[in-house]
Amino acid sequence: MFQAIHETVEYIKKKTDHFKPEIGIILGTGLGDLVGEIEVAYSLMYPNIPNFPISTLEFHSGKLIFGTLNGKKVVAMQGRLHYYEGYSMQQITFPVRVMKALGISYLFVSNAAGSLNPDFKKGDLMVINDHINLQLESPLRGHNDADMGPRFPDMSEPYNRKLIADALSIAAAEGITCHQGVYVSVTGPNLETKAEYKYLRIIGGDAVGMSTVPEVIVANHMKLPVFAVSVLTDEGFPEILHPFSLEDILETARVAEPKMTKILSQLIATL
Ligand code: HPA
Repeated sequence: MFQAIHETVEYIKKKTDHFKPEIGIILGTGLGDLVGEIEVAYSLMYPNIPNFPISTLEFHSGKLIFGTLNGKKVVAMQGRLHYYEGYSMQQITFPVRVMKALGISYLFVSNAAGSLNPDFKKGDLMVINDHINLQLESPLRGHNDADMGPRFPDMSEPYNRKLIADALSIAAAEGITCHQGVYVSVTGPNLETKAEYKYLRIIGGDAVGMSTVPEVIVANHMKLPVFAVSVLTDEGFPEILHPFSLEDILETARVAEPKMTKILSQLIATL
């Protein structure tokens, strides 16, 4: 893996005139608009980047974008990779390794998730303060490269506490409803049954989604501080569960997105 990372980083450095990002950003389903705030310097298509997995979802555009956001140099993944697409955990998290090797000191992640907490409504935001990995596989399984991180990485604070506090202050100042809570990752691609939503709530989840946790585990392995936020696009409340509609989820993400973009871009400015 070390060799693959090296090869990819060399290609990217050459194509971006050695642009050195400070912050890495992974944008979730229907949440690519933050890119509109970036003063883009370079944009690379995933299929052109050596060793990069290619996003298979047509609503993910699959670009690695380099530029400036509120005065900070960023690299943003527009289009993330999901376990359900058939990639290995190592493939999904490869871009995080690459962004770290390019020099980032923070990782920001967004996703669309289903609410499990009856107080968290569709269209609200939730800053992730902890997670439960129900994908039941770690991206760190297998050989550990000690140069990247320890065999048994600590996970007592996977999401940076100061960034959480600052994000909640920004949200309050902007009058944006923003909760904090526990994200449960599942493999998908099928949605949950009523019994599963009930179970996920009982075990301590506030939101459920099909991403984020692998990237967060790898970031923690490399001691990279993480900030993650969910846009709650549907309500997994067993008593009133409606049939799932992708159009509805994307529409909710589209409407809620400006709130999230405001918080992320102001938070980045504080770093
Ligand atoms: N379950 C799993 N993943 C999701 C959901 C959900 O309800 N909503 C958005 N992503």
